[in-house]
Amino acid sequence: MCGIVGYIGPREAYPIIIEGLKRLEYRGYDSAGIALFDGTDLKVCKTKGKVVDLENKLHTDITSTGNIGIGHTRWATHGVPNDVNSHPHYSNSGDLVIIHNGIIENYESLRKELISRGYHFDSDTDTEVLVNLIEDVKNKENVKLGQAVQIALNQVVGAYAIAVFDKTRPKEIVIARLGSPLAIGVGKDEFFIASDASPFLEYTKDAIYLEDEEMAIIRLNKDIKVRKIKDDSSVVPYVQTLKMNLDQIEKGGFEHFMLKEIYEQPKAIIDTYRGRLNRQEAIIKMGSVEDNMKKFLNADRIIIVACGTSWHAGLVAEYIFEDLARIPVEVEYASEFRYRNPIITEKDVVIAISQSGETADTLAAIKLAKSKGAFVFGVCNVVGSSIARETDAGAYTHAGPEIGVASTKAFTTQITVLSLIALRLARAKGTISSSDFRHHLLELEMIPKKVEKVLEANEHIKHIAEIYKDVHNFLYLGRGYNFPVALEGALKLKEISYIHAEGYPAAEMKHGPIALIDENMPIVVIATKKGHYEKVVSNIQEIKSRKGKIIGIVTEGDVDVRELADHVIEVPETLESLSPLLTTIPLQLLSYHIAVLLGKNVDQPRNLAKSVTVE
Ligand code: F6R
Repeated sequence: MCGIVGYIGPREAYPIIIEGLKRLEYRGYDSAGIALFDGTDLKVCKTKGKVVDLENKLHTDITSTGNIGIGHTRWATHGVPNDVNSHPHYSNSGDLVIIHNGIIENYESLRKELISRGYHFDSDTDTEVLVNLIEDVKNKENVKLGQAVQIALNQVVGAYAIAVFDKTRPKEIVIARLGSPLAIGVGKDEFFIASDASPFLEYTKDAIYLEDEEMAIIRLNKDIKVRKIKDDSSVVPYVQTLKMNLDQIEKGGFEHFMLKEIYEQPKAIIDTYRGRLNRQEAIIKMGSVEDNMKKFLNADRIIIVACGTSWHAGLVAEYIFEDLARIPVEVEYASEFRYRNPIITEKDVVIAISQSGETADTLAAIKLAKSKGAFVFGVCNVVGSSIARETDAGAYTHAGPEIGVASTKAFTTQITVLSLIALRLARAKGTISSSDFRHHLLELEMIPKKVEKVLEANEHIKHIAEIYKDVHNFLYLGRGYNFPVALEGALKLKEISYIHAEGYPAAEMKHGPIALIDENMPIVVIATKKGHYEKVVSNIQEIKSRKGKIIGIVTEGDVDVRELADHVIEVPETLESLSPLLTTIPLQLLSYHIAVLLGKNVDQPRNLAKSVTVE
């Protein structure tokens, strides 16, 4: 996710773009940049860091005049955050500049082709490839910018929102979208461009939202031309009058970032497997796994190190790797691992999981493993983070910025990446049949739609939250793949509502926690059809006979648990190994609603920090 802002009209573009970028920083904040045209010259200034760093640099680098410009705040996907990889990117001639939000999946092949025709690249980004592709088309076909953008985009596979400016036609900006949002603010003789409406709300409430596969040519003092990217047909733009306030827009209309991020999960999971999972060809393509295939296949075991929610994702991965790829796995709290004297050899593969990529304990565990000669693979969300740099190789989750302190989409996207790796290794080892492999790919591709289905239960879950918000203790139970989900559900509740909660493997209940159960104790039981169902139903019966209140997470159409439980929340059926991607969603929503009803600060719970850089 990145933020895009643009302006064309009679006002100074600079203050509008800078203030707009500040409002879009929730979309990404590892680097920022701006391109301004002052009537004669095109000036670009960009820097690693936040918009305020850009502002400071601008004061010394360029004069901020001109009434046309584009700006960008970045959430890195290709290439670490640094000055060179920041947007805007120039084309080789220096005539075009582009800003981009999204991922160009086929950028490697386009890049090779452009290099063979004499183009050079300064950055590691897919965006610089796109701007040169547009330039190449423009020169080869002898067309104007709008047409060049259109032809180029038809060669591109991936997702994008872009804004392109050509200094040889300095009175227009061309924008396009596929999979990433883009809005146009329509003022009197002026237009604003932005990833959401927050940068232009104080200037105009009239907005056009581009649809997927649409592009627009925005000209000074002219009407906007909107057309389809695929077939060039023109579209009559629909101008709507916005009634939202600023805060609502930054949070996408959600009350809290946490809720927004819970709802972003279908898209985040797609972004995670995009370009990696190819169901038609029945392959999983992950460069960093292919490059290190021997190390994975020859490993005596995999050791997973992580903290908190990422550790829970590691526990799910333990089941997946052992089940599908038949590789022994140990999952370690990074903080414990680093302080004992663990036996690590050169034949171990260590996987470090971290959303922020900055967790001090995980970083220290990585250094320890490397010092013993193990190959260390990272699964991180933040591109260019310390853990991403410290590991020998890795795979990003591409979940986009997670602002809410309680991890939600980080968890599901980590499981998605780890599932892809396990499936790829299983295929290479021959521990999964080709038909099972295909079935897994199909089911994984269907997960986002199924997550959407679970999200439809939001009101029902809120109602359950209202009933239990005042209790002091919760128990969460699950078995197999869903035991880590029970731990994660309990952690979510603890951290944002401050209610004490314990997660347990369901069968362990009778070895102690059962003593806690009385008519005041709510127990969330994950009891989906696949995986020890009958055994979990027996556990539920044990709870029932002690008068505990049962909230069952069940498969659609379930009858047995429904008869016993006080409440059920249904999730669609899927493979057992993928079920945590669905069963975790109601638990996130339950803790969210309880915390909101209790008036807690959901996005910034007390005593916690988003990245724990101290041990
Ligand atoms: C829980 C939570 C924490 C983090 C933990 C690790 O919601 O956010 O438990 O999961 O601090 O952080 P990362 O994944 O950034 O290493």
